[in-house]
Amino acid sequence: MQVKESTFLITGAASGLGAATAERLVAAGARVVLCDLNDSVNAHAQQLGASARAILADITSGEQMQQAVDAAVALGGEHGLSGVVHCAGVVSVAKLVDREGNPADLESYMKTININLVGTFNVMRLAAAAMAKNAPNESGERGVIINTASIAAFDGQVGQCAYSASKAGVVGMSLPAARELSRHAIRVMAIAPGVFETPMMSEIPDEAAQALAAAVPFPKRLGKPDEFAQLAEQIITNPMLNGELIRLDGGIRMQ
Ligand SMILES: NC(=O)c1ccc[n+]([C@@H]2O[C@H](COP(=O)([O-])OP(=O)(O)OC[C@H]3O[C@@H](n4cnc5c(N)ncnc54)[C@H](O)[C@@H]3O)[C@@H](O)[C@H]2O)c1
Repeated sequence: MQVKESTFLITGAASGLGAATAERLVAAGARVVLCDLNDSVNAHAQQLGASARAILADITSGEQMQQAVDAAVALGGEHGLSGVVHCAGVVSVAKLVDREGNPADLESYMKTININLVGTFNVMRLAAAAMAKNAPNESGERGVIINTASIAAFDGQVGQCAYSASKAGVVGMSLPAARELSRHAIRVMAIAPGVFETPMMSEIPDEAAQALAAAVPFPKRLGKPDEFAQLAEQIITNPMLNGELIRLDGGIRMQ
């Protein structure tokens, strides 16, 4: 799938990994629809110029995500929507039993699962249905879906029951989705970032962020959002990448 003159839907595009991916794809000649709950996505799309549009949508809403997909299909014109880079998500930390002996809050657990896991399914199903209608390109492809998991799917830390389970679910969906969508010539991949320097990371205390950076074998630092975007671009352009999860983590294994 070529990036130039193709159209992509980027979720979570107001910030962090999604914003960096939108920037990289536009710089490579793509048209992008930037989708987010946060209205700062409007300013971000404006900065990217005429190839970018913004749409406010909650990834957990069928109706709102259908509007986002429709906007991307319309922006793509005769070629429609060529791919989705799904970055929207939330982090949450809660112990099963807190210091005072209280059990974790069930609503908060369900909220994380709903956004990170059910939201991913919602984005995939609507984008896949739209891309299945595309005419195949010269290499026979109709589309590509890139989901964002996390290394917490494998190396979850204390307090990450909800986050790890939600991201493990994203990993688990990649292969069955890739197998099913192969008959439509749509690929499905997932990226599991390690620790990246984004606004999401600012939610954890400085000392914890420094300890995580120090635990990366090499390079000994947090990942830069554009390094995630580079991998997304490679997945879009390399047709043999399908049904797989790629850890992008500098070799860190969280304890
Ligand atoms: N930063 C990291 O170290 C890291 C590591 C592993 C995985 N991830 C994953 O990468 C993805 C992007 O994270 P980031 O670091 O860029 O975070 P971020 O907080 O900078 O960006 C996430 C964006 O998602 C949007 N969003 C959240 N819920 C939404 C919803 N229901 N509908 C639409 N938009 C919604 C937010 O408004 C925000 O703009 C997330 O799925 C996160 O879990 C991040």
